[in-house]
Amino acid sequence: MAVTFVVANQKGGIGKTTTATTLAGILAKKGRTLLIDADPQGNSTATYQAQVEDCATLYDVIVDSEILPLAEAVQHMPNGDIVASDPLLSKAEKLLDGDVEGLYRLKDAVEEMEGYEYLVIDTAPSLSVILYNCLIAADQVIIPVMADAYSMQGLSQLYDTIKAVKRRQNPKLTVAGLLLVKYSGRSNLEKRVLQELQELAEGMGSRLFSVAIRECVKVKEAQTQKKLLTEYAPGCSSMQDYFAFAEELLEGI
Ligand SMILES: Nc1ncnc2c1ncn2[C@@H]1O[C@H](COP(=O)(O)OP(=O)(O)OP(=O)(O)O)[C@@H](O)[C@H]1O
Ligand SMILES: [Mg+2]
Repeated sequence: MAVTFVVANQKGGIGKTTTATTLAGILAKKGRTLLIDADPQGNSTATYQAQVEDCATLYDVIVDSEILPLAEAVQHMPNGDIVASDPLLSKAEKLLDGDVEGLYRLKDAVEEMEGYEYLVIDTAPSLSVILYNCLIAADQVIIPVMADAYSMQGLSQLYDTIKAVKRRQNPKLTVAGLLLVKYSGRSNLEKRVLQELQELAEGMGSRLFSVAIRECVKVKEAQTQKKLLTEYAPGCSSMQDYFAFAEELLEGI
């Protein structure tokens, strides 16, 4: 069975997709890895240049009435294996609402899946039924955070959701850690926030990863060129940090 990581934070633009795609790129060098794009915005799908039209996507796996096995939705792209998202996933909320079975669709799909060592799931900036699907299917949650006051506000709500899922649907779920991203290391505010984040992480029975991902212009360049950071700028500062983060993450499993 694969180890399943879900990258989650309901705050938008906080580095989930960057973290998910870069982590998938790093893990792919260690074992067979599949990235699942569970965000209707489809940013990971775009980065992998995967198809959305005329092909199977996550929608067909978790929403459609004739459920498709996850393996049949995998696209083998130069950046790696991916199950693409679909804008239609934003309608999943309605379709799965009121259907308890609907919460377990991704878990069932992941359990059937063979041949992968690591699954990485990128999620949308919302606490949706899709996120529940992801948390129920996952082993570990990685929470990217930024060192600003707003960034911390939603964390307790996210943690309440994780706790509820752990209690009711997925006892094996753990918070792998909070990952500080887009870190400049320059402001005093950042340093203060660091201490708070550490305490918050401990309150979650988890940790703040000891490495912070530094801000780096190469991240945006790679995204614009639809390349993985692992390929585009393997030596840049963000990438060095992501390598160290991946090591720390894997030590914990
Ligand atoms: N280490 C970094 N250095 C510089 N820019 C970064 C870094 N990490 C992320 N970014 C930039 O921040 C923006 C948001 O990142 P990303 O798309 O990964 O966030 P997200 O949480 O997935 O957003 P959404 O909630 O919309 O899905 C992007 O423009 C990305 O290029
Ligand atoms: Mg994203």
